[in-house]
Amino acid sequence: MSAKKTPKAEIEALREEIRRHDRSYYLLDNPTVSDAEYDRLVARLKALETAHPDLVAPDSPTQRVGGRASSTFRPVKHAVPMLSLDNAYEEADIRNWVERVRKNLPPGEPPVYVVEPKIDGLSCALTYEDGALARAATRGDGETGEDVTANARAIRSIPLKLDGKFPKRLELRGEVYMTFETFDAVNEEEKRAGREPFANPRNCAAGSLRQKDPSITKARDLRFTAHSYGVWEGINEPLSHMDFLERCSLFGLESNRRYAQTLSSADDIVSYYAQFKDKQLAQLQFAIDGLVIKVNSFAQQKRLGFTAKSPRWGIAFKYPAQQATSVVREIEYSVGRTGAITPVAKLEPVFCAGVTISSVTLHNFEEIARLGIRIGDRVLIERAGEVIPKVIKVVEKSKNGSLVRPPRECPGCGGPVVKEEGMVAYRCDNVSCPAQVRRTLEHFASRSAMDIVGLGDAAVDQLVSKRLVKDAADIYGLTKAQLMELELFADKKADNLLARIEASKAKGLDRVIFALGIRHVGEKTAETIAERMDIDSLLDAPVEALEAVPDVGPVVAKSIRDFFSSAKGRELIIRLRAHGLKMRKPERTIAAGAPFAGMTFVFTGELKRGTRAEAEELVKSLGGKASGSVSAKTSYVVAGEAAGSKLKKAQMLGVKILTEDKFQDMIKKQTDDNHSSRKQ
Ligand code: IVH
Repeated sequence: MSAKKTPKAEIEALREEIRRHDRSYYLLDNPTVSDAEYDRLVARLKALETAHPDLVAPDSPTQRVGGRASSTFRPVKHAVPMLSLDNAYEEADIRNWVERVRKNLPPGEPPVYVVEPKIDGLSCALTYEDGALARAATRGDGETGEDVTANARAIRSIPLKLDGKFPKRLELRGEVYMTFETFDAVNEEEKRAGREPFANPRNCAAGSLRQKDPSITKARDLRFTAHSYGVWEGINEPLSHMDFLERCSLFGLESNRRYAQTLSSADDIVSYYAQFKDKQLAQLQFAIDGLVIKVNSFAQQKRLGFTAKSPRWGIAFKYPAQQATSVVREIEYSVGRTGAITPVAKLEPVFCAGVTISSVTLHNFEEIARLGIRIGDRVLIERAGEVIPKVIKVVEKSKNGSLVRPPRECPGCGGPVVKEEGMVAYRCDNVSCPAQVRRTLEHFASRSAMDIVGLGDAAVDQLVSKRLVKDAADIYGLTKAQLMELELFADKKADNLLARIEASKAKGLDRVIFALGIRHVGEKTAETIAERMDIDSLLDAPVEALEAVPDVGPVVAKSIRDFFSSAKGRELIIRLRAHGLKMRKPERTIAAGAPFAGMTFVFTGELKRGTRAEAEELVKSLGGKASGSVSAKTSYVVAGEAAGSKLKKAQMLGVKILTEDKFQDMIKKQTDDNHSSRKQ
C-alpha cells in the first residue's frame, strides 16, 4: 500500500501514526503497538527524512531527542548547574590561559596544574545519599537533565553503594563512555539487526544510556569515570582535584586518577599535550577529544571562580579531528554473521591519524545516498579518536562517476539479496551462505569465545572453502590429516591447532553460549545466563524464565528462545556435546574444592611478570575471584610497582598485602600441589 505513496505522504502518515501511539502510551497508559513495531516506524521515518532532508520538520517525532525514549525520562533540575569548559586548540590559547590564571592569583602562590584526558562521552551527574546511588541524570542543557537512574543502575562501573568514608550527600559528575571494543561489538549487532550503526562511541554511549529497557544498557558495558562534583555535604571536602580523584578511588569509583598528571608551567603543559598525542593517544581503549587542564588547589579554584559559561580554573586543550581526502575506487560488499550486507568503500590508500586507510565502511545504502557518493568521487574522511574512520562528505565529484547500487546477489554465496520491509540493511537469507558461516566460525573461535588460537580468518577461510567445516561442531571432528591438506598447516601447526581445539572443550558454558553468536547475547550476558541455568534448562526455557535472568530483557529473551527453538540451534548443541564440550557452569566447575575458592584478590600497581588480566585469569583458574576494588572482604591485595590508593585502602582496612613475587610463589605452590595430588 505504502509503495505508491510519495515520500512526503508517507512521512506525514508515519508521523501521525507515531504520535497516535505516543498518545496512547503516555496519556492513556495503553500501548497500541509493540516496541519493535514502534521502533520500526521511527526507523523508517528517520530513514525517509535522511533521504529527504527538505522534508524534516521541527515537530517530527524524530526531532525529539532520542524519540519516544526521551519522554520516558523525567526532567531533573541540577542542584548546581553543569557548566562546560572553554576550549583551546593551540599552544597560544594555553599560554594565554595560564597567564590569566597566574594574574588572578596572589603572586606568592604559583598554581599546580592537573592534566587529564577529556573523555568523549556523555556528561552525567550521580547523586549518592548516605552512600547509596539515589539518582542519575544526564547533563541536558546544563540546568535540567533527564533522569536515567534505572539505566545507570544497570551500569556495572557505577557502584550502587560507595565504599569507605563518604559524604552524606554527594553529587558526582563524570562521563559515561564506551570502549572501542564495545563500540565495535554494538555496531556489529546493530548492522546484523538491520539497524543504522552508531557514528562514534559517544553517540553509541548516549543511545545505550537512554534505553527504555535497562537490560540493553546493561548488556552494552558502559563505563563511568568521575571528573568533578557538584555537591559534597557532610564530611570535609577534598582540598584539591588530586585529593578528589584519590577519594573517588576510595569510594570504589573509576576516575581520571589513572591518567592524571601534575605539572607546573605552560611549557610543561604544551609538551605533555604533544607527548600524550604521540605516545599515549593511540593506546587508549576509549575515545578522547583532548586533555583537560585544571588548577589543582580547590582554594585557588574558588578564587578564580567562573565566567557566565565556564570556570576560569580549567580549560579543555582539544586534539583536532584528523582528516584526509582520498578517491573511492570501488565499493565492496561484506556479509556479516547474520547475513547483513555492508557496503565498504575501497579507497586509494591515504595516511591519516597515524595509519594508512584503504577502506571505510559506509554502513548502508541510505548512508551512501545521504552522502551522494559515486565511484570515482574524492571524499573527506575523518578519524577522530575512533578506530574506525568515516566518510564525512564528497569533496570533488568525479565527472563520470558510477552510481553505487545495492548488490543483486550475495557476494558470499551468489544467492538473492533481500531487504526486509522497513529495515535499512540488505541481507542474504541463505543460512548456509559460506560468508555467513565464515563470520560465525571466526566469532566462535575468537579469543573471548572459545579462544582457539590458530583458527583465525585465514584458516577458517580455507576450512570452509574446502568444505571441511560447515558449522562450529565440525571443528571438533577435524583430523590431523585433514589439516595437513591445507596450505596453512605443517606438522607442528596442525598439532598445535588440534591441541587448542581440544583445550577449548573445557571452556565452560558461558563461553559456549557467547560463542554460539546468538543475537544480542554478549559476553557478559552469556556469563550471567551460564551462572543461573544449565544447558538443558536453557534449551527449553520459556521466555519468562529467561527474562528472570538479571541481564536479560524481552528482546534478548526472544532472541535466545528463537535460537534454541530452531532445529539448527538444537542440533548444534547436541553435536557439540557429543564431541565432548563441557557445558558446565563456570563458577561451580572450578569452585568445588579449588584452592582459591571463596577468596577475592585485587591487583594494583604495575605487574612485571605478566599482565593484570593474566594474573586475574590465574586466580579464577584456581577458583578465586578477582575484583577491581578493595573492601573489608578482600582476601589479598597484590601490589605491583607504584601501587596507589588501593594499596593505601588495603593498609587502612588491614587486608593482607602480597608482593607480585609472593603471589607467584603462592600460585606455583598451588599448581605444584595440584600436580602431585593428581599423580597420586
Ligand atoms: S571538568 C565546568 N574534566 O567535557 C565543567 N570535564 O565542557 C567541569 N569532560 O561536558 C568539568 N572529561 O562532562 C571535566 N576530565 C574532565 C572531563 C570533562 C570530559 C566533559 C564534561 C563537560 C565537557 C566540558
